[in-house]
Amino acid sequence: MRLAQRLRFRPRTPEDDGFMLSIGRRVFARWSRDPARSLGSMLASKGARAEIVERDGSPIGFAIVTFERLPRPFGPWKAPAVARLDAIAVSPREQGAGVGRALTRRAEAIAREEGAVVMTLMTAEGNARGRRLFSRTGYLPVIRMPDSYVNGEAAIEMFKPIA
Ligand SMILES: CC(C)(COP(=O)(O)OP(=O)(O)OC[C@H]1O[C@@H](n2cnc3c(N)ncnc32)[C@H](O)[C@@H]1OP(=O)(O)O)[C@@H](O)C(=O)NCCC(=O)NCCS
Repeated sequence: MRLAQRLRFRPRTPEDDGFMLSIGRRVFARWSRDPARSLGSMLASKGARAEIVERDGSPIGFAIVTFERLPRPFGPWKAPAVARLDAIAVSPREQGAGVGRALTRRAEAIAREEGAVVMTLMTAEGNARGRRLFSRTGYLPVIRMPDSYVNGEAAIEMFKPIA
């Protein structure tokens, strides 16, 4: 069966926190002093939406999307939002098989449901997998911010129009 048919997406529930923290601690340790705390503050952001991806019934990844809304018409939009892909992670043993790409697409669909016209994100300059995923899915690097992570790496801010 093709990967896409075996993946199921669902909103995160508090019972997912253990799973999210265990992946987060492993995959973000290089860049964050306290991944659990960072994830906690993303989840606490007003209106944040977190999505879990499962394969064959087991959670294998997650994405957290946060929003900032303009409460008035702007250009052609009634009340546009800017979305931020605050975190995306796939269990190390499931990486490299297309799950991250599917999760990115799902995060963009969620952002559109919330009225977002652009998705933004930040990734470490040395994060080859992350940068490849984002550039292959249409994200444009717009700003380089030196010395942004605990390991001294620069951050690359990326945008993608999704209206
Ligand atoms: C970044 C991440 C979410 C990507 O998930 P994934 O399931 O491995 O991604 P995919 O399998 O969908 O691959 C996406 C692209 O990355 C490429 N890729 C996969 N493994 C790679 C590797 N080891 N080195 C370089 N590129 C790789 C794939 O080739 C694919 O590009 P393609 O479409 O041109 O083939 C995942 O690696 C991860 O959780 N990393 C740790 C957390 C992180 O860095 N998050 C992003 C910053 S918030």
